[in-house]
Amino acid sequence: MTSLTDRKNAAISRGVGMTTQIYADRAENSEIWDKEGNRYIDFAAGIAVVNTGHRHPRVIEAVKAQLDRFTHTCAQVVPYESYVHLAERLNEITPGDFAKKTVFVTTGAEAVENAVKIARAATGRSAVVAFSGGFHGRTFMGMALTGKVVPYKVGFGAMPGDVFHVPFPIELHGVNVEQSLAALKKLFAADVDPARVAAIILEPVQGEGGFYPAPAALMRALRDICDQHGILLIADEVQTGFARTGKMFAMEHYDVVPDLMTMAKSLAGGFPLAAVTGRAEIMDGPGPGGLGGTYGGSPMGIAAAHAVLDVIKDENLCERAEQLGGRLKQRLAAIREQAPEIVDIRGPGFMNAVEFNDVKTNLPSADFANRVRLIALEKGLILLTCGVHGNVIRFLAPITIQDEVFAEAMDILEASILEARA
Ligand SMILES: Cc1ncc(COP(=O)(O)O)c(C=O)c1O
Repeated sequence: MTSLTDRKNAAISRGVGMTTQIYADRAENSEIWDKEGNRYIDFAAGIAVVNTGHRHPRVIEAVKAQLDRFTHTCAQVVPYESYVHLAERLNEITPGDFAKKTVFVTTGAEAVENAVKIARAATGRSAVVAFSGGFHGRTFMGMALTGKVVPYKVGFGAMPGDVFHVPFPIELHGVNVEQSLAALKKLFAADVDPARVAAIILEPVQGEGGFYPAPAALMRALRDICDQHGILLIADEVQTGFARTGKMFAMEHYDVVPDLMTMAKSLAGGFPLAAVTGRAEIMDGPGPGGLGGTYGGSPMGIAAAHAVLDVIKDENLCERAEQLGGRLKQRLAAIREQAPEIVDIRGPGFMNAVEFNDVKTNLPSADFANRVRLIALEKGLILLTCGVHGNVIRFLAPITIQDEVFAEAMDILEASILEARA
């Protein structure tokens, strides 16, 4: 009989990389069961999508209620109150004490595309500055902004123009804030007039790039530079949003406010929905018809997002993220005593990562990170790697994970790291 993996390989483009050979049958909160009845603890959460857990009862209830009313009208043809109300809620809860507006789309990459369109239309400028190691999606502008070539840009030809990169400050890898800002200054002197720059985009904590938080000094300096040159600051909160970092949005950890913010992933707890929210006058830059999309703000996604926002508040998930992240980092610090491969443990709230080097060469070891991941998978724990060097394991469990499941996962993690050393 042909295995499901053989069928997958025959039917699906190899361009869609898959990190496990598990085929999901059902999932509940922080656990997934496969077709054979094997149970896994999910520390990937669909890549930061189910911060509120798989099938949170309130999310499911909200979507079921919506299914019984209508499933699609296209908001550009016949809008609905829940769509307007969710925009009102996002305008209210996103950082910034000023009038805001929102546009709904379907994916994170689409949110990034639209943030750039809006910034260009509002400023009449076209250039965009992003950071090396940043990830902004797989559409053409998303790819162009992404600061990593392999595998994201290989073979896809010319990228959209007027996109520039500067190094992201990661002290562990020898780049500090001053060097990063000096590179930006040089960029403005050598490559692009800042008066032509529409926006600077960054993730408050780099996600795919390795879970490196943007230093506060960088964020403050970028805000000043943007204000000085009339450039818009875009925070890509697609992965960092919705309680993951211990705040509703990671930008709340900083004393500066972005002009535009992109959101997706955990916004709708497992349903496809994304948004751009920002200063009202900037959001109104594009003319009527310039923004939108057939499925943007789908009724099910909108219904799910209302429930997600309620759950985050009612279940104190920001506080819970802090607690869980604290416990995880403490456990990793204890494991580090026996595993010198661990060179860094980091991340705000429950957006944590551990980074590994080879003990002999002291160079980043993707091989060690991958060994840990595969051993953990054998033991029933789904982990994800990330980082420009592939030597980072990131932890993205649902913030609703039960204490006993979390404790079990910690034991598996410890055993896997120690076994990877053997
Ligand atoms: C920061 C960031 N921006 C954009 C994206 C793209 O989102 P999507 O995969 O929904 O298009 C991602 C996805 O991982 C992301 O982490």
